[in-house]
Amino acid sequence: MSQQRKFFVGGNWKMNGSKQSIEGIAGFLKTGPLDPKTEVVVAPPTCYLEYTRKTVDAKVGVAAQNCYKVASGAFTGDISANMIKDLDCEWVILGHSERRNVFGESDQLIGEKTKYALSQGVKVIACIGEKLEEREGGKTEEVVFRQTQAIIENISADQWVSVVIAYEPVWAIGTGKTATPEQAQEVHEKLRTWLADKVSSEVAAAVRIIYGGSVNASNCKELATKGDIDGFLVGGASLKPDFVQIINARQN
Ligand code: PGA
Repeated sequence: MSQQRKFFVGGNWKMNGSKQSIEGIAGFLKTGPLDPKTEVVVAPPTCYLEYTRKTVDAKVGVAAQNCYKVASGAFTGDISANMIKDLDCEWVILGHSERRNVFGESDQLIGEKTKYALSQGVKVIACIGEKLEEREGGKTEEVVFRQTQAIIENISADQWVSVVIAYEPVWAIGTGKTATPEQAQEVHEKLRTWLADKVSSEVAAAVRIIYGGSVNASNCKELATKGDIDGFLVGGASLKPDFVQIINARQN
């Protein structure tokens, strides 16, 4: 079944980089070689969206790291999906755990942002994931289903082709503590089964569920062998040439 889902690797640069470092990243991505069977997207800080779009190869997608739920207005500091589109960028990351936990974004707001971005033709990497205490309290499924439910309620079944779900357990992000391939696969599989029930079996079979949280060049290959892991969202390692190895995780 995973054959129908194109492997997807996103690089989330977070609040890092400069024009100079972006040139370096564009350089190692150009040298690659990158597995043509992998869809690659990089997410620079907002101020570098346009520069990144102009600097990286056209075949690499560019994502914003966030955007608001309307086209324009009195929302100081924010950007809209219309602006992302205007810069010829294709994607936006929504609901990243840092947006949820540092900036207090709710499931509801993330659902509304997803709805608006898709309505403007901007594709969405929708992030979900439980905190350590939630995992230890046996609440992983409850949390990821609740977070995904807020997305489901805001979009139609035909819009799922423009959504990638990123399962990122909060305890694994930036900690060097990756979920084991079995732990990640278990959540991805349960989520897919749940989506079949809540949306449709077609959407569940087709939607890409990628894993994020301390993915690196050494652990990516084993994670990529799992049937329901359709790629990665990579933070720290996406700033380094190791990112190429992660993009190529499905190659021998
Ligand atoms: P990390 O970040 O790879 O540095 O853990 C992943 C993410 O936050 O998307």
